[in-house]
Amino acid sequence: MKILGISGSLRKASYNTAALRTCRELMPQGMTLEIAEIGDIPMFNQDVFDAGLPEPAKRLRAAVTAADGVLIASPEYNFSLTPALKNAIDWASRPPNQCWQDKPVAMFSASAGPLGGARVQYDVRRILGQLWAHVLPRPEVFIGSAQGKFDAQGKITDEATRKFLTELLAGFGPWITRMKK
Ligand SMILES: Cc1cc2nc3c(=O)[nH]c(=O)nc-3n(C[C@H](O)[C@H](O)[C@H](O)COP(=O)(O)O)c2cc1C
Repeated sequence: MKILGISGSLRKASYNTAALRTCRELMPQGMTLEIAEIGDIPMFNQDVFDAGLPEPAKRLRAAVTAADGVLIASPEYNFSLTPALKNAIDWASRPPNQCWQDKPVAMFSASAGPLGGARVQYDVRRILGQLWAHVLPRPEVFIGSAQGKFDAQGKITDEATRKFLTELLAGFGPWITRMKK
């Protein structure tokens, strides 16, 4: 199964991007993860879309379309989506060939706050739901107070967090299979 990872944070030292990288180690056999670059996608503008897709947006749309599933990791910014994540979702959402249609998605969030970005997950679910993506309902994974759960190299040092991510990834495979039926 080819999984496309999207991090909602553009920060080099992002906990979410670091956790996504760790998912490579925690994935069940037969699952691979490629992490999308979304930092170079211009701000969505329908005029630009209509004039011809910019290369980075074209690349994202092709990657979402080709993936068996999309794994989103994101902090919440002001209780909701980061601009980078919303922009990526929007570019991939416009017809023709709306890329989220029937796409299995799993997500987790990491943030400095104690709730681990919980609120962004419900906004992402609402947005992707109306695009007919199928977001894995459970397990939910919130990495709260993330600054205490990673080492300086971005490795997750908190065993419970590794276990929660392992369970999420273990549930994602069967979800993809079920949603493809
Ligand atoms: C614009 C902005 C808004 C933020 N809003 C929230 C918030 O609503 N809740 C929260 O827990 N953390 C918030 N934070 C702090 C982030 O959780 C923290 O910067 C985190 O490290 C971002 O994730 P990253 O490490 O993947 O970049 C905010 C940070 C920024 C820059």
